[in-house]
Amino acid sequence: MKRTAAKKLFHNPRPGVARRVSAPAAHRLATASCRAAGTETRRAPGYETVADGYALPQPQECVLILDFGSQYTQLIARRVRECGVYSEIVPHTIAPRDAARRRPAALILSGGPASVTAAASPTCDPALLRLGIPVLGICYGMQLVAKLLGGRVWAAPRREYGHAFLRVRHKGDLFRGLSGRLAVWMSHGDEVTRAPKGFQVIAVTATSPAAAMADPKRRIYGLQFHPEVVHTPKGKDILRNFLFRIARCRGGWTARSFVASTVEQLRKTIGPDDRVLCGVSGGVDSTVLAALLHRAIGERLACVFINNGLLRKGEAEAVRRAFRDRLGIRLHYAHAPQAFLRRLRGVASPERKRRIIGSVFVQVFQREARRLGMPRFLAQGTLYPDVIESRSPRGGPSATIKTHHNVGGLPANLRFQLVEPLRYLFKDEVRRVGKELGLPDRMIWRHPFPGPGLAVRVIGAVSARKLRILREADAVFLEELRRAGLYDKVWQAFAVLLPVKAVGVMGDERTYANVIALRAVTSRDGMTADWARLPQPVLAAIANRIINEVKGVNRVLYDVSSKPPSTIEWE
Ligand code: XMP
Repeated sequence: MKRTAAKKLFHNPRPGVARRVSAPAAHRLATASCRAAGTETRRAPGYETVADGYALPQPQECVLILDFGSQYTQLIARRVRECGVYSEIVPHTIAPRDAARRRPAALILSGGPASVTAAASPTCDPALLRLGIPVLGICYGMQLVAKLLGGRVWAAPRREYGHAFLRVRHKGDLFRGLSGRLAVWMSHGDEVTRAPKGFQVIAVTATSPAAAMADPKRRIYGLQFHPEVVHTPKGKDILRNFLFRIARCRGGWTARSFVASTVEQLRKTIGPDDRVLCGVSGGVDSTVLAALLHRAIGERLACVFINNGLLRKGEAEAVRRAFRDRLGIRLHYAHAPQAFLRRLRGVASPERKRRIIGSVFVQVFQREARRLGMPRFLAQGTLYPDVIESRSPRGGPSATIKTHHNVGGLPANLRFQLVEPLRYLFKDEVRRVGKELGLPDRMIWRHPFPGPGLAVRVIGAVSARKLRILREADAVFLEELRRAGLYDKVWQAFAVLLPVKAVGVMGDERTYANVIALRAVTSRDGMTADWARLPQPVLAAIANRIINEVKGVNRVLYDVSSKPPSTIEWE
């Protein structure tokens, strides 16, 4: 299947890797369209923006992580949060004034691919190290601390990569309670050969003469290895020591405290009279968004759910029921399959389908917004990876991160202010918040589903008849996966209707009917994926049921391609 640049209209690109925005994005599509098109949406008051474009959430105990471009930066942020301390990733160029304004409990300097010995390597303002805030430098971060404070770093003749054993010389607060010999994960070329004045080397490895260093007086520490990765089994204990013993954090950042403080903040931001418009798709992000807003402002939340006719079997009813019965949220339901199908008629190109669906969505959404009296605010389900990837030294410029949002666009006279209460959360945190808000498990653990829905799973031109066949086959597939206890074990599973017909024989009759491909993948984040090794008896039962029960299908295939080089969706 040919992939063209236009396909990326819905993509959320990372450096070098094309990625479409994570699935339940219908609402994001609408909301961000107006941003791209009109520049008319404004960040809501209460979401202060610092010079580099990082929006600040409500003040609370916070650890700032300066990003030097490591592939593990997000992991550091998550580990700190797992310890119950809120953390935020900021660019390494952050001004000391801006950092100090946040009154962070600690600064962590991430690793990074560069070498501090190179001329133009990324650095930070040395004044950050004089703020009196505890600092932990990890890998590149440690080398930078050493360089900025007068130590010596050199490009070691041998890179140290992989497992190593750390010999702890002085436990101090950082290694308190841990054994003197620890398995750690190394990944570096440079190394510190002389610690700066005031520092003591507190641990070594066979090849690293300074694998950890400390200046307890200034509370500045450095680790040559990566405590944030699972290959450093005691890494979290080390981080915990840094956070609670050295930086004296209080902790207590949980889904519950997030809900409480966000609800309070939303009430302040939105005020007592204004209303918020929120597009929902039934996916976890938009559902959590709606539930959070509903808790904050009750009936002043106007939720819109557009049925584009490209949903899975029973999905529209299930979403409406869940909102009504489980969440107690009123849903404005826009039944618009005809509007979408009419415009899609005869269109075979995946990228044209996406563009059409995007623009019809915006039209319908606008109509509903008007019908609802044009609330002042628009809720958007932006998540933290969307925010930081656009800022990371590894990431592209912010203008390209959401090119998929440049679809259609709302007219400039549509003036919304954005509220993005999830913009500081990772996906798993959104799920935990969802649980806290009482969302049903089925919604929390739903597989990702693309905004353009089944239109990109009917290969070639879409028609009501083809959608019907696909919907039935897909429902059988998912039902059997659930029955076998495999639904939660795969990242995504779905059926695809191919644009070919095959010969078969049913009873004594020759058939000439459709072919269904089944796709099930395992993945951590959708960026890469492997085909799921479903047990053969399960596959056999699924194929058997589809061919027997879905009229118009006489052949079922299983897709055994990984991503890359294939993609998860066929179109
Ligand atoms: P691919 O096919 O690029 O998919 O490997 C990666 C993830 O993105 C989802 N996807 C989309 N989500 N709009 C979306 O909201 C889209 O146009 C779109 N295309 C793919 C896909 O389902 C998978 O989770």
